[in-house]
Amino acid sequence: MIAAADINITKVEHSKLKDINLENIPFGKYFTDHMMEVDFEGGEWKNAEIKPYQPLLLAPSLAALHYGQAIFEGIKAYKNTEGEPYIFRPHDNFRRFNISAERMQMPQVPEELFMEGMRQLVELDKNWIPSQEDHSLYIRPFMFSSDEMIGVRPSENYKFMIILSPTGPYYSAPMRIYVEEKYVRAVPGGVGYAKAAGNYGAAMYATAEAKKIGYDQVLWTDAFEHKYVQECGTMNVFFIIGNTAITPDLGSGTILAGVTRESAITLLKEMGFNVEEKSLSIDDIIDAHKAGILYEVFGTGTAATISLIRELRYKDYVMSFDVDKWQTAPELKRQLNAIRYGQMADNHGWMYKV
Ligand code: COI
Repeated sequence: MIAAADINITKVEHSKLKDINLENIPFGKYFTDHMMEVDFEGGEWKNAEIKPYQPLLLAPSLAALHYGQAIFEGIKAYKNTEGEPYIFRPHDNFRRFNISAERMQMPQVPEELFMEGMRQLVELDKNWIPSQEDHSLYIRPFMFSSDEMIGVRPSENYKFMIILSPTGPYYSAPMRIYVEEKYVRAVPGGVGYAKAAGNYGAAMYATAEAKKIGYDQVLWTDAFEHKYVQECGTMNVFFIIGNTAITPDLGSGTILAGVTRESAITLLKEMGFNVEEKSLSIDDIIDAHKAGILYEVFGTGTAATISLIRELRYKDYVMSFDVDKWQTAPELKRQLNAIRYGQMADNHGWMYKV
């Protein structure tokens, strides 16, 4: 097995950073100087390298390109008030990565390789971490099958890689959301709980349809009745109804166990909310809206952080919100950011020092 010390490091001669303005940077468009690449061959991980960010040379018959045996994670690094780099809850993403790997019949990535590789890579490119509010260094670990073969079976070879992208907000403004009742994202027994690349590709058609009629994203509903809400765009979703924060439960395996979701649950409880993880129907949401007790709706995600939803439309019923009057989601975001930027005590041990 590869130990941290076995990661071979080749540094760039000249950093690209001087050509890039880290202020107001768009999400996921620029990549840092280095990347990590490791091969799984003959049943073991080998050739661990951190090297200059560069294209890959891949065969057209590469299995991942044909059958989508590919998974990924999203993690963020921040600088604290002293300018020291920290990563937000990376062990949680590591665990989820291997849950996704298991579901997609891919090898487990050893913790030391994942964590130390990421730490060394972020350490090397730490000058790329933006300091502006709502900005961070987005860390994208991913793995794909790399057999050169087009038979349908799990590969014998894989690549595990990590790339880094300095980044601003993913959804920059409060969103308009269309409640989806035709297409589906996930079914019980499917791969909804895994961060499988195909989940995102499969969501694009419905999202594009919603965009055609002026919506930013869809709120997915269950596959059988289109009644119970699941995720929203690339996010988990929360509803503040009365003094209770409700988010769909993870029980049916259709929902990604978001790290930001989990953090939001913890902070909302500390803020005095009742938090319920349960199945929630669109009818219950509409009833709460009609009763005037649906106060806030927001999404949570690594890329999205906390994103406010200013309109929710189900069939012809439109729920509009005056997000400027909201207190909970903005306060949640403030606290999460304060912990991440080292301005508030990290009582939960969420920040991992690079
Ligand atoms: C994340 O929040 O990190 C995600 O994976 C969403 C994304 C596909 C940008």
